[in-house]
Amino acid sequence: MHWNKNGTPERDCEPPRLRCILMKLGCGPALSVGLGTGIPLFGITRDCMITPKLLTERITAQDAWNEVAEALEAGVPGNVLSQTFDDDIVYRAFTEGSIKSEKLREKLHRHPFPDIGKLGIYSDYNLEYHVGGGLTNAMQISSKAEQHHHSIRSAGSVLDFGCGTSRILRYFVEFLPGPRYYASEVFLENVHWGQLAFPEVTYLHQNSFPPIEMNDEHFDIIYAYSIFTHLEEKFHLLWLSELHRLLKPGGLLILTVHGERVLSRCKQEDNVRRSMLFEGKDHREVVSKFANEGYVFYTGYEPGYLTQGGLDAERFGIAYISKKYIRRNWTKWFDVLEHEEGAVSNWQDYVVLEKGARPGLAKCFGRIFFQKG
Ligand SMILES: C[S@@+](CC[C@H](N)C(=O)[O-])C[C@H]1O[C@@H](n2cnc3c(N)ncnc32)[C@H](O)[C@@H]1O
Repeated sequence: MHWNKNGTPERDCEPPRLRCILMKLGCGPALSVGLGTGIPLFGITRDCMITPKLLTERITAQDAWNEVAEALEAGVPGNVLSQTFDDDIVYRAFTEGSIKSEKLREKLHRHPFPDIGKLGIYSDYNLEYHVGGGLTNAMQISSKAEQHHHSIRSAGSVLDFGCGTSRILRYFVEFLPGPRYYASEVFLENVHWGQLAFPEVTYLHQNSFPPIEMNDEHFDIIYAYSIFTHLEEKFHLLWLSELHRLLKPGGLLILTVHGERVLSRCKQEDNVRRSMLFEGKDHREVVSKFANEGYVFYTGYEPGYLTQGGLDAERFGIAYISKKYIRRNWTKWFDVLEHEEGAVSNWQDYVVLEKGARPGLAKCFGRIFFQKG
């Protein structure tokens, strides 16, 4: 299931308590295949994904249609727009509309926007990317979790690993309240700003290498957007092992990698080549290493630029990871539930991983009787 601007079909959540019991029995994800049918169970229905419907309800609840019409120069008054809008208008209200109009921003965003020039140097191209890309990615990640029967909204605790300016987290905090949200980041200024801007989130200042100072098996869901796209090979394995430690049995890890799609774009597209620090490299050589070894890493960011933010200049560059490599090397920690190549504009792939539940009778029982998809 993919989210698109026309809206994915919406499903209702499993009731958290039932889900919790199923997980303890070791058969949660398996049995929930049968349960995730969109049928409200025991009368409990909640929006578990960030969708145009949820965003629309917010505009209406905030009585913000006039401000939307004004900011987007819709050519019709708010009361007409509220009857005739489409998903694109709703998306633009939260993004370009909220950037243009302070009045609209105040109604739709409870949390401040960052100073991108200062805080986004390692993560955000501009404010449009922060607000718009953040919304798109939050929709994608919440949809991926749902698709694999792990609802962000009903999770106990969720970690945004390498949160940058919290551009994704801002929408989860706003639209999917419920879990305890945590965010980790190397760049200290992002941690300081985040803690002020999002007081409901616990920020963890991490080193560029493990560990993160948290107990084992703390999180139900961890996501890492555009972190494994940057790490040197041995170093990325250390981080995977650390995220495995931090996840509860049965927990979900959603992350992105660069793969074959973006690598092939580097051959032809100047702007892609530039953003992938590709200049001066032989495309055939990189492609051949990718095909043979499955992991290609090179540095290219200016070391001074990285170290001023505490980033590890020798181990933070550009990484490409093949589907085959992931199947071969990551499955000692995780089950690969999905690998969607080119999912983000043919630029990044989404990989959805699950930490196996604790072995035991209940787990075996669950596996035997409820075939996992
Ligand atoms: C491309 S940005 C992505 C930020 C955020 N996830 C987002 O999608 O906006 C990469 C982030 O990784 C952080 N980072 C750098 N080194 C890291 C490391 N060793 N482990 C985890 N995160 C790191 C950077 O500070 C930066 O915020």
